[in-house]
Amino acid sequence: MEKETIRGFIYLLVATLATVVIALVTANALMHRPEVIDEEAISKRIAPVAQLTIAAAGAVGAERSGEQLYQAACVACHATGAAGAPKLEDNAAWAPRLKQGLEGLLKSVINGKNAMPPRAGSDATDAELAKAIVYMANKSGGSLKEPAAK
Ligand code: HEC
Repeated sequence: MEKETIRGFIYLLVATLATVVIALVTANALMHRPEVIDEEAISKRIAPVAQLTIAAAGAVGAERSGEQLYQAACVACHATGAAGAPKLEDNAAWAPRLKQGLEGLLKSVINGKNAMPPRAGSDATDAELAKAIVYMANKSGGSLKEPAAK
């Protein structure tokens, strides 16, 4: 009778250990699965934001404002005066250039001028370039008018 009780305990112990091992293996497997699902869910959730950012940058065709294009494509040279670029807000550097008017300035940017590559190396449209020029000029002592939207 006593031997059977001990055997019963041993069976119980083995059964309990087996259950714990199975539970741990299952928990481990379950804990790794949600990570994959979460990554997918997160990328789905942030996708609209990523697309919105691209749209804001103008890659999806929305026309950028003068300031937006300036910040995206002109600031690198014109904030610092790199490569001899007239600096933003340096009225003295801009005064002689402003005499050409918007048309002349736009021509310089479209065709490029010395260290400035054609279209300043950007994919901007003429209208966007014109707005960026107006933005820059008017921060630098000019009083150019933004051309009316077509
Ligand atoms: C790689 C540097 C660089 C970038 C980027 C750049 N510029 Fe320039 N920009 C210059 C330099 C250098 C000059 C002076 C050229 C000269 O007169 O020798 C200049 C001159 C100008 C002028 C005066 C042109 C004239 O006829 O006097 C305008 C207007 C201008 N840039 C607008 C822009 C706009 C708008 C952007 C952005 C879309 C831009 N630039 C981006 C380097 C740059």
